[in-house]
Amino acid sequence: MYGANTVCIVASSCPSAEPTHYTFSHLPDSAETAIISRMRIFIIGAKGQLGTALTRCLNTHTLTLRDLPELDMTDREALSAEIDTVQPDLLINAAAYTNVDGCAQNPQLAYRVNGLGPQNLALACAEHDIPLVHVSTNEVFPGRKAAGYDEWDTLEPVNPYGRSKVAGEHNVRALWRKHYIVRTAWLYAPGGRNFIHAILRFARERGAIRVVTDEIGNPTNVADLAAAIKLLMTTGQYGTYHFVNSGACSRWEFANEILRLADLENVLNEQILSSEFDRASTPPPLGALNNNVGAAIGIALRPWQVALADYFRAEALDS
Ligand SMILES: NC(=O)c1ccc[n+]([C@@H]2O[C@H](COP(=O)([O-])OP(=O)(O)OC[C@H]3O[C@@H](n4cnc5c(N)ncnc54)[C@H](OP(=O)(O)O)[C@@H]3O)[C@@H](O)[C@H]2O)c1
Repeated sequence: MYGANTVCIVASSCPSAEPTHYTFSHLPDSAETAIISRMRIFIIGAKGQLGTALTRCLNTHTLTLRDLPELDMTDREALSAEIDTVQPDLLINAAAYTNVDGCAQNPQLAYRVNGLGPQNLALACAEHDIPLVHVSTNEVFPGRKAAGYDEWDTLEPVNPYGRSKVAGEHNVRALWRKHYIVRTAWLYAPGGRNFIHAILRFARERGAIRVVTDEIGNPTNVADLAAAIKLLMTTGQYGTYHFVNSGACSRWEFANEILRLADLENVLNEQILSSEFDRASTPPPLGALNNNVGAAIGIALRPWQVALADYFRAEALDS
């Protein structure tokens, strides 16, 4: 399934010690050296799902962790002052306004956070000549491609969240050459407000759930995404990447797998269509991503079912 030089991300908890099965043979010597050495890394959005996973994954480096309310990335002056003080070697943007229905209700705020925020980050990184890792979404695509979206496909968002994230991507690309734009999808993390927790809560409270069959994506373990970003961030291979656990499924199939792993197979999982589900934002129906560019430099994420099972094992150990 993976090429000889491919790094298959398998560490769901992303321990600080490098797992032995990682191979760096595909990376230039300088990148390998950089991965091992200690960097000053500035993470904005550090309290979110991805920010928390990155904090854990990158803990051998010197981290500066920022989030609301202490630092608002839409405040250009405050951001610039922070970067001046910290003088980081690299900046990772894990911050965003991720409530897609909230974005539909307040598109101005969505643009401000997801468009202007990355603009400020790109300008600050350009000023200090440091690489920027910026995280984006599958919702920049319209969701009409059954084969899944490639990194070079045309952006055509269908909702305000997607439009605001496209604005962020454009700003980063236009303003700073040393960028890694990493699109991902359907993130889940321990303690996060995400699909897994919603399914488990409804299943336990109501004994039955109703889930859509016509929304397709890639469930992605945030620890795997953090591990992939860790590999990418020192390669110098700037560009756009799709980092998702491999394979795709419908929301209904994802829910079925969650119920199975939680020993809740007795819970009725009724199939419905998105049209039966009233919400402010319309997600792209066929919104899966294909990882071509990351795989070409040897970074691929394991299948979503394996990553999900690992997540449940880790949660069971923690509880
Ligand atoms: N979650 C998904 O399923 C998913 C799917 C595809 C792509 N993505 C992308 O992946 C990235 C990480 O997502 P996530 O799920 O980790 O997000 P998350 O859990 O919602 O975390 C985002 C963090 O950013 C903070 N934040 C919001 N506005 C900010 C601002 N103006 N300045 C500084 N910090 C701010 C949030 O603070 P508050 O909580 O106080 O607002 C929160 O701590 C985002 O770029 C997102 O668009 C996520």
